[in-house]
Amino acid sequence: MWPAGGGDPWPPASVAGSVTAALLVAAVIARFIIIPHLRSSSGIIKPRRPGTRPGTPAASGGAAGSSSAARVPAGSLGWPVIGETPAFILAAYSARPESFVERRRALYGSKVFTSHLWGSPAVVSSDPEVSRAVLQADASAFVPWYPRSLMELMGESSILVLGGALQRRVHGLAGAFFKSPQLKARVTADMQRRVAAAMDAWRRDAAGAGATTVRVQDEAKSIVFEILVNALIGLDEGHEMQYLRQQFKEFIAGLISLPIKLPGTQLYRSLKAKKRMTKLIQKITQEKRRKMITKCEDRPQGTTTHHPRDMIDVLLGNGSDELTDELISDNMIDFMIPAEDSVPVLITLAVKYLSECPLALQQLEEENMELKRRKSDMGETLEWTDYMSLTFTQHVITETLRMGNIINGIMRKAVRDVEVRGHLIPKGWRVLVYFRAVHLDAAVHGDPHAFNPWRWKERADVTAGGGGGGSFTPFGGGQRLCPGLDLARLEASVFLHHLVTGFRWAAEEDAVVNFPTVRLRRGMPIAVTPRT
Ligand code: HEM
Repeated sequence: MWPAGGGDPWPPASVAGSVTAALLVAAVIARFIIIPHLRSSSGIIKPRRPGTRPGTPAASGGAAGSSSAARVPAGSLGWPVIGETPAFILAAYSARPESFVERRRALYGSKVFTSHLWGSPAVVSSDPEVSRAVLQADASAFVPWYPRSLMELMGESSILVLGGALQRRVHGLAGAFFKSPQLKARVTADMQRRVAAAMDAWRRDAAGAGATTVRVQDEAKSIVFEILVNALIGLDEGHEMQYLRQQFKEFIAGLISLPIKLPGTQLYRSLKAKKRMTKLIQKITQEKRRKMITKCEDRPQGTTTHHPRDMIDVLLGNGSDELTDELISDNMIDFMIPAEDSVPVLITLAVKYLSECPLALQQLEEENMELKRRKSDMGETLEWTDYMSLTFTQHVITETLRMGNIINGIMRKAVRDVEVRGHLIPKGWRVLVYFRAVHLDAAVHGDPHAFNPWRWKERADVTAGGGGGGSFTPFGGGQRLCPGLDLARLEASVFLHHLVTGFRWAAEEDAVVNFPTVRLRRGMPIAVTPRT
């Protein structure tokens, strides 16, 4: 789900421009102004053996075994100071962000090459196996790396930057909670209620003219945010929820901004917003702590506790001293990012791709109509398992994740010289694991720019979370594999079910913007007509 930027409406052209400027300035002031000695006079790096770089010992083991033949991949460090960041950003703003990688792949004859991004030398991987090995590696080889403004806003105790045992503990607790049938049942019920209310309003608006126009991205954002926030901190709809959403929008706008904390800057405003959110979340946490202690004292010996209602309950229930109020609030705020960003974008992209592929839309409608009929004949309501068992709907979501690349890739920093499948990544360098270039590689997924949900029919191994040996990693992998992946699929399934069984629609023109976050330029306006 990371990184995100944005907020709503996202982003006016001026914001996008200032983001580019911010990234460039960040690169300049990021102190890595000494272009390493590996640069040749042409700026091109030739592969070389470990140990030949001054001061570099031979690769000491690696993420995926070691070999004496490990070399720094061929590539270029680009311009002094700014490296290849401008070229990366230019490509990112175009319709084919992966062209940055494709061009270099052709030039160096390898899916793994050296570059210089965000102020540091970096190895870029678009090779499924190398990417998989980096994702699988632990904190003794790589730690997460994010732009400075993001690090500042997330805080030191964020799961995104934590390493070692504490990360594993928070990850494990979050994963178990998000996967629990109890939470899925509640999220399904809440989602159905919220989607029904939103769609009733569409029907009312359409009553006179027969159709009304809605922006899928905005609708999905307000529905998903409230549901996930409720699952995270137990807050119900109302005044405090509205306040939190406002503050969150201010917070998220600073995630990719100039790393300057002076009054008037976005980062300053975002930090203030974070403080206000922290105050509210810590108040909720403290109330929960108090109640928990009182309940414990009142409970007869030997009786068990109830299933936790939200993520704060889960963390408090763990009883560890390391899970402080600060850690809890920092993480609850970070967990809200997919609620405001990734999941709504997944829903919106699915609607866009379906609008452009009538055959897929028809099959999706048939599958969902059939389920609706069956359940209504039996007088039953839909359960989370019903949604997740819709095979074609799941293929549509999988294909949307592959094509949409909501998270383009992730960055790590090598904490020592690391060797990955024959490539040396020197200590201090970044690795960009670029999911997008793998998902859109014709050698990995045939005809990659075609929306083809049927391609997943034979590939249950990939979608079951295995990641197909690094060929399909929209949710990352290894120790940091997204713990919210089932929830994201579930929420998208519920939304799509009610949309296709309740309405027909005609989509207006819209375009996908890929940088700094993926979104639809106009929020995906569609004219919806209720089915009779
Ligand atoms: C379409 C929706 C989503 C996408 C594409 C997505 C993608 C990702 C990716 C790629 C990572 C790996 C980051 C890394 O390796 O550094 C990740 C991590 C994470 N995701 Fe998601 N995510 C989504 C939804 C969610 C949801 C709904 C939640 C829960 C509220 C969630 C919570 C997390 C957390 C807590 C992590 C950090 C795990 C760790 O570092 O241990 N995500 N996500």
